[in-house]
Amino acid sequence: MSLPSTALPPGPSEPVAIQTLRWLTRPIPFMEANRRRFGTRYTTRMLGQAPFVSLADPADVKELFAEPPDVLHPGEGGSVLKPVMGRYSVLVLDEDAHLEQRKLMLPAFHGEKMAALTGLLEEVAERAVAGWPRDEEIALHPHLQAVTLEVILRAVFGLDEGSRLDEMRTVFTEYLEVGTHPMVLMERDLGPGSPWRRFTRVRTRARGLLVTQIRERRTAGEDDRDDILQMLLAARHDDGTPMSDEEITDELMTLLVAGHETTASSLSFACNDLVRNPDVLARLREAVDAGEDEYLDATITEALRRRPVLSISQPRLVVKPIEIGGWRYEPGVALTAAIYLIHHDPEIYPEPYRFQPERWLGVRPGTFTWLPFGGGRRRCLGASFAQLEMRVVLQALLRQTTLSGPRTPERTARRHITVTPERGARVTLRARARERELAAA
Ligand code: HEM
Repeated sequence: MSLPSTALPPGPSEPVAIQTLRWLTRPIPFMEANRRRFGTRYTTRMLGQAPFVSLADPADVKELFAEPPDVLHPGEGGSVLKPVMGRYSVLVLDEDAHLEQRKLMLPAFHGEKMAALTGLLEEVAERAVAGWPRDEEIALHPHLQAVTLEVILRAVFGLDEGSRLDEMRTVFTEYLEVGTHPMVLMERDLGPGSPWRRFTRVRTRARGLLVTQIRERRTAGEDDRDDILQMLLAARHDDGTPMSDEEITDELMTLLVAGHETTASSLSFACNDLVRNPDVLARLREAVDAGEDEYLDATITEALRRRPVLSISQPRLVVKPIEIGGWRYEPGVALTAAIYLIHHDPEIYPEPYRFQPERWLGVRPGTFTWLPFGGGRRRCLGASFAQLEMRVVLQALLRQTTLSGPRTPERTARRHITVTPERGARVTLRARARERELAAA
């Protein structure tokens, strides 16, 4: 197909402000409405941003993920996160600089490293679940956020229990809260008392604590630890030099921001879908009791399909003209994989809105049809870590409690960078021992 170079796939003609508002407030209905009207390839326009083309055809996504690094710049597309993560963050870099950081970080997430972390994650999860309220309806999301933060502090930053862990928990909770404020992401300093000022204060403290942790570990030279910090300390650039304090700090910040909210929200949706599907819940409990992983893994795969907490991949900014699916895109346009839409395409997933782990029994997720972690050379570095964490938290929850909750689905709400269940995943937990007592009485 030969097209004028300025033509972009069709999309909504509403004013930019309206499109921005719809995207910010109700992203999923906005995406679905666009697919209904324009098909699997459409252009939207957001305030202050490049025209945005969403690709919801796996064939287009395959081409998108295969494009060379000097043609598409996802790092530039995600540059709003630079103040929060730092200039060396793997998420905000492109081309050689991106590859260099990614190569330094990859070994930390290899299978055997994840296996070595399992015991620690189980310990954190079992202890956290034991402390959650019983016999009253609660929003699970804040508790899941606390457990995913604890996992990062212990398994990524490598903190042992003690006063430093307690201090870091407080500081990083504040950092995460203020760091994703829209005024911070826009780098707007509105004077004393403003979110930006509060952010820069807490950032100095948070980074200072991390640098102390890094330096102490460098001096101690402990190499028998399994945490991610230890792997970063051991990593070497191609010229043999270690990563600097600033590089490690930036990457630890990146892992915190990329790995905390995403995993907590995914678990929240999984729990919300489980209480709404008692048959699945019962089968899952049996599998967990029997120590069988297949149904548990299928449940996690399905939860990540049905509720991808990042509904699009990181936007890739076009820096050299490219052609994808017969359309030519010029520099200045951003392209993204419409993860949510692909996961809800009835041609790919029959009855796509049903939560049905059975669809994954004996089936491997497709590289371009199951995309909760994006893909290509920018695929989520923490994908195995996140799935392991989901597994141990769900196991702890099912071993210790029975879950029940409202059957009505919670609407999807935007929360910082992810989407979450609007009411925080309402559930009632009952101790399983108590449940057995009641049944026997
Ligand atoms: C269920 C939880 C998670 C989900 C759904 C998720 C999803 C994603 C997605 C969609 C991307 C962008 C990929 C692309 O645009 O192609 C990404 C990137 C990334 N994620 Fe995750 N993530 C999760 C958990 C984690 C965890 C636990 C960590 C680390 C501990 C992590 C670290 C990263 C990093 C470092 C990147 C940037 C990779 C790069 O640009 O090279 N994520 N994640």
